[in-house]
This record gives sequence, structure tokens and C-alpha cells, in this order.
Amino acid sequence: MVEIGAGTGLNVARYPDGIDELVLAEPEPAMRRIIERRLRRHDRVARIIDAPAERLPLADDSVDTVVSTLVLCTVADPERALREIARVLCPDGQLLFIEHVRATSRFLAACQDFFFLPWYRFAGGGCCNRPTMELMRACGLP
Ligand SMILES: C[S@@+](CC[C@H](N)C(=O)[O-])C[C@H]1O[C@@H](n2cnc3c(N)ncnc32)[C@H](O)[C@@H]1O
Repeated sequence: MVEIGAGTGLNVARYPDGIDELVLAEPEPAMRRIIERRLRRHDRVARIIDAPAERLPLADDSVDTVVSTLVLCTVADPERALREIARVLCPDGQLLFIEHVRATSRFLAACQDFFFLPWYRFAGGGCCNRPTMELMRACGLP
């Protein structure tokens, strides 16, 4: 199992026991240090790697589950990140995600466009209006 953009490792406590290998990918050094502390606190074992979602140092078809929570709105190149996820996932693998996505309602999508810049600044580079679901489908992810 691989989590991209693991941040401070908030999800660590939610993972079940018995995972073959847990890989936490996080490009920010300060976040990786917090993850290390959290792993110790929860007595969990994981491999922390310095990697952006756009360049995962993992073999093709090698991962059964990729987890992404509030990351795809932040990555510099979401299409490339999704292609990487599709590349490393094995054929019956799964992507579990909680992400901001573009609203299907035209009115709400227009609101997301209107608030893009203030939200981007407030959320440290988070894009509230990305068509993440459409990008997922275009990259072959269900
Ligand atoms: C809003 S935080 C979410 C953290 C965590 N997933 C959570 O749910 O608590 C976004 C995270 O994405 C990371 N991030 C930014 N650019 C990234 C990239 N290109 N690839 C992977 N992670 C990235 C940030 O360092 C940050 O840890």
C-alpha cells in the first residue's frame, strides 16, 4: 500500500494491521519528520520516501492500493501524478481517495472558479476547481 502526499501522517492510525508493506511518499522534509514521530507514537512500521506523486520510485504494477487524501488538488502536475498512480497499480489495484473535485453543477463550478485565487493562497497552493474525476478517467482510473 502506498500513500502519496502523506503530509503529517494523519492517516497512519487508520490503516489496518497486516499490510504487507506501507510506503508513505511525501516530498516535504518537515512533513517527513513529523511522519517519523507519528509512526513511533503509534508503534507502526512504514517506509517513508522522498517522492512527489509525479515520480514514484516504484515498479510498474507493483502496488495493490494507492491512498490519496487532499493531495491531487495540490500537486504541480495532476495528470502526471495520476498516470504514475495508474502505472504502479497492479491490474486489480485500487485508488482510495478523498479529494476536492470540480463541482458538476455549473453554478457551483463557477463559484469554485471565482474563489480559486483566495483559496489557492489560503490553502497553500490547493486548487479547489480541478476536474480531478475527469483526469482520473482520462488516465484509465475508474
Ligand atoms: C493538504 S496536505 C494533505 C496531507 C495528508 N494527505 C492528509 O490528508 O492529512 C497536501 C500534501 O501534499 C503534499 N504535496 C505537495 N505537492 C506534492 C506532490 N507533487 N506530490 C506528492 N505530495 C505533494 C504536501 O507536502 C502535503 O503534505
